[in-house]
Amino acid sequence: MILETNRLLLRPFQQKDLQDFYDYAKHPDVGPHAGWKPHENLADSQEILNIFMTSTTDTIFAIVLKENNKVIGSVGIHPDNHRPKIPSCKMLGYVLSADYWGQGIMTEAARAVIDHLFSDKSFALVSCAHFPFNQRSKRVIEKCGFVYEGCFRHAYPLHNGEIVDECCYSMTREDYLHAKV
Ligand SMILES: CC(C)(COP(=O)(O)OP(=O)(O)OC[C@H]1O[C@@H](n2cnc3c(N)ncnc32)[C@H](O)[C@@H]1OP(=O)(O)O)[C@@H](O)C(=O)NCCC(=O)NCCS
Repeated sequence: MILETNRLLLRPFQQKDLQDFYDYAKHPDVGPHAGWKPHENLADSQEILNIFMTSTTDTIFAIVLKENNKVIGSVGIHPDNHRPKIPSCKMLGYVLSADYWGQGIMTEAARAVIDHLFSDKSFALVSCAHFPFNQRSKRVIEKCGFVYEGCFRHAYPLHNGEIVDECCYSMTREDYLHAKV
């Protein structure tokens, strides 16, 4: 599956993406905002890339910037861990290379994935969450039109052992169609 926007191609990860992936995954501010440890070497990135390329439960798109053909991030469709018994609900997750923050790129990518999800008539709800300290992600979620559900307290173990709250949002099919009018 390939999705296209003005500036981006969203496509499955490939082995040739390893160096681009490592280049952003090693940055000290990227992974920790999403709950994971910065990659220390190419082997760390290879391990996760293998999961991206073979997962049967999650769909992970590589975000390719058309102007330079580089993989600059990822956006994933995951099982919704708050609605595990409802397959028509999914959770969105994303990361972007710090070199490209603040240009509206993740909002562009997330909107394309949301459109793709709701193009399936049986799809009911997409959720998204950020940690309280992640105000950039909060803005992406707001700009996409998600509805705030509340704070899931003491909900997520960070890579350093700290357990943090999750600010939870969702978008139902009705929300999505209403926003499109
Ligand atoms: C979160 C992330 C994906 C945002 O990507 P992005 O392409 O920079 O997002 P956008 O440019 O579409 O929007 C960012 C918004 O945050 C705002 N922003 C930037 N710094 C901010 C800050 N310190 N406090 C509040 N808002 C901030 C920007 O102004 C922009 O909002 P605006 O369009 O209203 O001006 C990116 O920062 C990232 O990958 N971070 C690390 C990983 C991560 O946090 N993943 C998400 C886990 S939930």
